Amino acid sequence: MPITYIRQFIAGCANPALLNSFEFPSDVKERVERVLNICTGKTFGSYSESPGIKIIRHDIASYIQQRDGYPSDPNNIYLSNGAAGGIETVLKLLMNNSKKPSGIMIPVPQFPFYSAILTQFGAHQIEYFLDEDNGWPLHIDELERALNESKARCIPRGIVIINPGNPTAHKHNLFLLADEVYQENVHSLDSKFVSFKKILMDLGSPYNQMQIASFHSASKGWHCESGFRGGYFEITNLDKDVKAQVNKLVSLSLCSNTWGQAVMGAIVNPPKEGEPSYELYKRERSMMTNRLQEQATLINELFNSMEGIICNPVKGGMFAFPRVEVPCKAIEYAKSKDMTPDNFYCVELLENTGICVLPGSIFKQRPGTYHFRTNILLSAHQIKDMAEKFRTFHVSFMHRWQ
Ligand SMILES: Cc1ncc(COP(=O)(O)O)c(C=O)c1O
Repeated sequence: MPITYIRQFIAGCANPALLNSFEFPSDVKERVERVLNICTGKTFGSYSESPGIKIIRHDIASYIQQRDGYPSDPNNIYLSNGAAGGIETVLKLLMNNSKKPSGIMIPVPQFPFYSAILTQFGAHQIEYFLDEDNGWPLHIDELERALNESKARCIPRGIVIINPGNPTAHKHNLFLLADEVYQENVHSLDSKFVSFKKILMDLGSPYNQMQIASFHSASKGWHCESGFRGGYFEITNLDKDVKAQVNKLVSLSLCSNTWGQAVMGAIVNPPKEGEPSYELYKRERSMMTNRLQEQATLINELFNSMEGIICNPVKGGMFAFPRVEVPCKAIEYAKSKDMTPDNFYCVELLENTGICVLPGSIFKQRPGTYHFRTNILLSAHQIKDMAEKFRTFHVSFMHRWQ
């Protein structure tokens, strides 16, 4: 469900004539005029400055400052085509391959975009495993293992941390890529989002001098405006010569798309208490947040109620990654058909029920374990509808292959 305030803001930016309508809330009107006034030709149809529209970068810096309690400089903020566009730019910086390819540490299970883009860049993927048995935390020993084993094949340059998700590494002088697109998607009441930048600043010297790029997105959160391709990244502690290269890199594509910039601008500068749009905005926002929370709980309960499936609580993000104890006979059969056992399970599920989930091997998993990934975006009603079909299939699958 789109958030009215965001769509009104976009509508006003696209067609300023709407601002004359009495139905257009005055606070949205003021925000639209404020941004349009600094766009070239007062239109979103023009190129913006390469790093993004200045006022929006200022608003993002204020948002970060308020969130973390540490200063944020608008000159270190870059609007991007989704978080993915920003991640691609920052990874390019680290691709100074010499005799060996650059290596980037990525978590497993991973977001497949990382392995795809690293393959495209000819980089080495240094996979570190998250600890499923304890709710997906990261252990330093595992980081060290992954890093040491990779050194014969690459020069480790950076580490991707998906947060909410996991921790860090100063000792090996790695560039931190903090993927924080789910910062507004914390469903567990006993958890809260803390940015990686804040953690580094709280830790003090030498960690507060580490180079970090933090990414956020218009695609997730309570706004879910993925099609607009809005996102930004903030760089911290970059040498000024490297920063000059970032500026050059972003200017290659002239600027990120201005609609994505507008959505990101609306997200970081929402209606304030007392403004005309505030009550509706607050209601819609909490409706979305509550819905996601309820759906995360339902999905978790559903899978854990089935023998042979274990699902960690979905404390944050938008996905569940349940583990299936695929019976040995099914594993052997799948292999004889040249399929991974998790893929076999998912295809059988699809063919028997019409329910589509993705096999864990797409996201990688510990060898010998089998998962599937599903999102939490179905409504509570749809989840309940799907539950019985899923359960019937699962029981019959386990029985058939036992
Ligand atoms: C962890 C993670 N990072 C980044 C992205 C990309 O987000 P965007 O749509 O902003 O490019 C996604 C999208 O699913 C994601 O799951």
